[in-house]
Amino acid sequence: MSVQVIDTIDELQARVASTRFLEKVVGLVPTMGALHAGHVGLIDRAVDDCDLVIVSLFINPTQFNQQDDFDRYPRIIEDDLAVCEKCGVDILFAPATEEMYTGQECTTVDVTNLTDHLCGPERPGHFRGVATVVVKLLNISRADRAYFGEKDAQQLAVIKRAVEDLNIPTEIVPVPTVREDDGLACSSRNQHLTVEDRKNATMLYRALVAAKDAIAMGEQNTEVVTRIACEYFKNQPRTRVEYFEIVDPSDMQPLKVIQGPVCVATAVWIGQTRLIDNILCCPDKRD
Ligand code: PAF
Repeated sequence: MSVQVIDTIDELQARVASTRFLEKVVGLVPTMGALHAGHVGLIDRAVDDCDLVIVSLFINPTQFNQQDDFDRYPRIIEDDLAVCEKCGVDILFAPATEEMYTGQECTTVDVTNLTDHLCGPERPGHFRGVATVVVKLLNISRADRAYFGEKDAQQLAVIKRAVEDLNIPTEIVPVPTVREDDGLACSSRNQHLTVEDRKNATMLYRALVAAKDAIAMGEQNTEVVTRIACEYFKNQPRTRVEYFEIVDPSDMQPLKVIQGPVCVATAVWIGQTRLIDNILCCPDKRD
């Protein structure tokens, strides 16, 4: 069966409502398009779990803090549609900006505390944009389950919090990060890397693994772990570390001492491209 492309909220809601009496499980995979292996991981999981799978493709302007970042976001809907066809998606929901935002809105979703560190300070308003559009997409689709990548650990934590706080009856399903063979996390931003920058980009994963190893071997001081990991960024051309932090995965607050599971997260500029990645670590546990 081929993917049905829907671009209005009314049509999507009518289509979902028509399956309700059949008690079908509806799954949503929110995306901004430029689908890659990471998205395929989310979609495959949704197709396995659900009877009706919706992929939303909406490049949400309110979550970009820089116009040129928004402008250069890849727009390749024909390719995205082909990916959806191949994966067995039922509906591609691709609304125009005016369909999602009338311009009359007075409501936004602000998730506090969880956004104080990591990407929050460098990207003011970003998580408000994300949380608001995700809540809108959950309300529009009335999905039973929605799928998000662990690569965006802070985004995932923010969405889980918003869904819990606002009693939204959608189960949020985290999906592990998909990586290239050399460890680089799949991201639509990778395509902006030059050949040389792409080679250097593996330093994020190597630094995170070094942190994980140090923690697994019993290092509890986050300053020491950070120092060991950040050796990988030293003397690297065209590289700027925006942050390297070790946080509690439940509230994204920085830790001084590691006593339980932690999320080690980093954002690094390589040339003109900002990459983020993270790894979950447990003391005394080495893969
Ligand atoms: O992760 C993304 O692609 C976006 O932030 C999301 C969740 C689709 C909201 O626009």
